[in-house]
Amino acid sequence: MPYVTETNLTDVVLARWQDIPDPRLRQVMGSLIKHLHAFVRDVEPTGEEWFRAIDFLTRTGKMCDDKRQEFILLSDVLGVSMLVDAINHRFASAATPTTVEGPFHIPDSPHFEHGGNMADGAPGIPCFCVGKVTDLDGRPIAGATLDMWQTDGEGIYEAQKGVDEPWMRGVFKSQPDGSYIARTVAPIGYTIPMDGTVGALMDHTDISHMRPAHIHFCLEAPGFRRCVTHLFQRGDQYIDTDVVYGVKERLIADFVEHPPGTAPNGETVDTPFYVVHYDFVMQPEAAAGRVAAE
Ligand SMILES: [Fe+2]
Repeated sequence: MPYVTETNLTDVVLARWQDIPDPRLRQVMGSLIKHLHAFVRDVEPTGEEWFRAIDFLTRTGKMCDDKRQEFILLSDVLGVSMLVDAINHRFASAATPTTVEGPFHIPDSPHFEHGGNMADGAPGIPCFCVGKVTDLDGRPIAGATLDMWQTDGEGIYEAQKGVDEPWMRGVFKSQPDGSYIARTVAPIGYTIPMDGTVGALMDHTDISHMRPAHIHFCLEAPGFRRCVTHLFQRGDQYIDTDVVYGVKERLIADFVEHPPGTAPNGETVDTPFYVVHYDFVMQPEAAAGRVAAE
């Protein structure tokens, strides 16, 4: 083995790690070492800065428990979560794009009838999500599940509200013609948690720590890829600066204001309400060739 110099150190380390038996681990560690060394050579940290970096990572880890995941938040604000999502969901261009799941999904939400209200008693402007679920050729998908979750009209998720009953979440099913209707309230934008290491980092910048108003969806249907996505409210003040980079143009929807009257589910609403029309297009399980062709 050659003795190390600043110049040959990266190659010496790479050589030692290149013989590990697991090929994927070998690939991952080789790339990590290469890029980490390049980063250090680029930044040239002082010893004090290196200790501060270690301390930042240590404190980030200590903030994590079963309810709080500061490392995922760090991944989010650096755009890594969205990059991983994009790499793993290379759908056909016609399919509804995915975006990050985020930390607020709770499984086993209550099931609602077509047009049911998942925001009963919640503060906020009534909002009806309507549309169809189809395949890439526009054929309706019957019986697709639409698992929805969001903030109430005050920006609070169930996990933050500390309630025993389900809050602002529900599962709807598409009808034989592919249609769905869900009653909720309009969400509002919210800040990521700013009381941890990521918040402290953001406070050293003038980068917005806000997310624009959105409704989370997870669509599932037999034979199709799971689609975890959001619908964003067009015109939201944070739509161009989402702190987790989750906004894709195709996921921006019009929240159309309606005066009091008959809502899409047939009920009478005595206050103004929103209607959000959005058609979801699902990616078939076995459409890899099609993705490559588009
Ligand atoms: Fe969210």
